[in-house]
Amino acid sequence: MIIALPKEVKENEYRVAATPSAVAALVRKGHTVLFEHDCGAGSGFSDEAYIAAGGQLTEHEALYRNSDMIYKVKEIDASEYDLLHEGQIFFSYLHSNAHLESTLFCLKNNITSIAYEDIDDDQGKFPALIPMSVLAGKGGFLAALHFSQSVHGGKGLLLNRIPGVPTPEITILGCGASGMGVAELAAAFGNKVTILDVSWKAMEAAKHQLPANVEFMYSSRENLETCLKRTDVLFNCILWDKNRKDHIVYREDLKMMKPGSLIVDVACDDNGAIESCRSTSHTDPIYTEEGIIHYAVDNIPSGFSCTASQTLSAATLPHAIAIAEKGVEQALLDDKHLRRGLTTYKGKLCLLETALKHNLPFTDPKDAIEGK
Ligand SMILES: NC(=O)c1ccc[n+]([C@@H]2O[C@H](COP(=O)([O-])OP(=O)(O)OC[C@H]3O[C@@H](n4cnc5c(N)ncnc54)[C@H](O)[C@@H]3O)[C@@H](O)[C@H]2O)c1
Repeated sequence: MIIALPKEVKENEYRVAATPSAVAALVRKGHTVLFEHDCGAGSGFSDEAYIAAGGQLTEHEALYRNSDMIYKVKEIDASEYDLLHEGQIFFSYLHSNAHLESTLFCLKNNITSIAYEDIDDDQGKFPALIPMSVLAGKGGFLAALHFSQSVHGGKGLLLNRIPGVPTPEITILGCGASGMGVAELAAAFGNKVTILDVSWKAMEAAKHQLPANVEFMYSSRENLETCLKRTDVLFNCILWDKNRKDHIVYREDLKMMKPGSLIVDVACDDNGAIESCRSTSHTDPIYTEEGIIHYAVDNIPSGFSCTASQTLSAATLPHAIAIAEKGVEQALLDDKHLRRGLTTYKGKLCLLETALKHNLPFTDPKDAIEGK
């Protein structure tokens, strides 16, 4: 199979889908990997490293035209529409829910699109999302360290246990992958950390992984209010149901918080669990509402591109190899977890969530592949 590794086009996206080591693994199996100049530069991987791995340096358009599978990080950009061809495989984060235009493009042009974020595992978890969520949580805590400083607009608080002064209070909503990423660093820095979750099982599991300066509370309105009043930094790490219309923290609630405190919305759902949240970027990461600083960067892991590319590449490579070795149909039929990520196939929409959200016809992925 001929696999293409383009340079990402999204602003501030420095990750690459496959490291030189992943390219070498594909080449060893007899596949051809075309890569674009500087595709790995943002993650510290040079063109020379890709050439040494057996990749072939290829010009942008030729890379799209001459490949069977595009292996990428970010969803399809409008600038790629003219370059993709019928039957081509697009293997990437897709967020087909949020990017309806590119989903419709794939349906109309018979692109086989498979979304990293929807590939699951035996535990019902999403292995291509977890490493990024952990990095986003850790990056979110580092951002809080930065924006709590007076020289960066914060109230001048060092998020660390310092003798003689009150220990900072950190509240985390959700102890999933990103919440645990925050908690690990926040607790290691000696802060008083409170995690609120609705799942006793999740809190019980987290308790065994975190030190004693982390307490756990049910995510009830009363407990939330207790935390809002005392917290210096609130992290939102809830996996939010996109169809929900309510919020956990309403704009009015911000008045309960200490002035100059910080909200880091790792989940980053516009108008989601935190009503006042709107996505920001690495170039313009914060804004203030009701005296509370909000940080809501929607691609935190890109700031740690070298680390992120390595973990992402490791999570997706087994699937890329299966697709290259067996062909996409057989790989999808053999692996229900990969099939869970199938979004569009021969003009049919195979991702239930997106079909429901946009009121589009849904076809079961297996039926679509078997032509039923
Ligand atoms: N900003 C970024 O760059 C970035 C990067 C990666 C992931 N994310 C996003 O972060 C979000 C969280 O991802 P995750 O992998 O940590 O999810 P997860 O599924 O691992 O964890 C979510 C947790 O939230 C808990 N929860 C659900 N409802 C709750 C409530 N009302 N109160 C408190 N807790 C509640 C769940 O029980 C679960 O433990 C996702 O939306 C993901 O897309 C953002």
